[in-house]
Amino acid sequence: MRDLRQKIDGAVAAIRKKTALKPAIGIILGTGLGELVKEIEGKLTIRYDELPNFPVSAVKSHENQLVFGKIGQKNVVAMQGRFHYYEGYSMKDVTFPVRVMKALGIKTLIVSNAAGGMNPNFKAGDLMIISDHINLMGANPLIGPNDDSMGPRFPDMVEPYDSELMEQIEKVALEEKIPVKRGVYVAVAGPNLETRAEYRFLRVIGADAVGMSTVPEVIVAIHARLRVLGISCITDECLPDALKPANIEMILKVAAEAEPKLSRLITRTIKSMP
Ligand code: HPA
Repeated sequence: MRDLRQKIDGAVAAIRKKTALKPAIGIILGTGLGELVKEIEGKLTIRYDELPNFPVSAVKSHENQLVFGKIGQKNVVAMQGRFHYYEGYSMKDVTFPVRVMKALGIKTLIVSNAAGGMNPNFKAGDLMIISDHINLMGANPLIGPNDDSMGPRFPDMVEPYDSELMEQIEKVALEEKIPVKRGVYVAVAGPNLETRAEYRFLRVIGADAVGMSTVPEVIVAIHARLRVLGISCITDECLPDALKPANIEMILKVAAEAEPKLSRLITRTIKSMP
């Protein structure tokens, strides 16, 4: 417990040596959705491997970094590249950056991801505002002793995704003429994509989209009393009775094509925030 606090302090101290910027908003950019950092002005980047206690990534990529700067008048920090449970990181590791961003001062967390669409009204390339989630990862980042100074033992989950932020992004979407859906995101551990029987099951239990991330970070964000806005980019259509093979190249291609509208939506929503 004290260990986690010390680890957070260590990472924060290292960041403070590089920038005095106090972010109000944290952004986690999902698979294939890292281009939003282009919208950040006065950028300062810090690679994850420069930060003590940050999980070490097996893949050396320029996408593993924190990007500090401004969007409009707002100070932001963006995670370009996240840690996935299926990569072998613990749930504590996956969510450590959220703890660090909270310690840096963020009040709002915006999360994006690439997800498979199970709602038959969704098409590949659609954007879905996450209205709620189902945790089917078989793990939870809050398991273990609870540090009451960070958040409650039994955090309430009546509204993990902030309804005002949802309305705000939908208003912006309307103005920008970017169609958006709303739906429930279910998180599974992965790394395999689902069987047809699994898609049928996930749809029946009430999910509109499925992916392998986001929920751990959102659970920790709620524990830390952050406001959360989540957006899924639907990258493939997961209809059990008409399922076509999917692969990561195709998923990345669709995410890249949808990326400009996602970036526009998030930057404009941030600018419109009070
Ligand atoms: N499952 C199916 N399709 C997907 C996923 C997933 O977890 N992520 C992106 N497309």
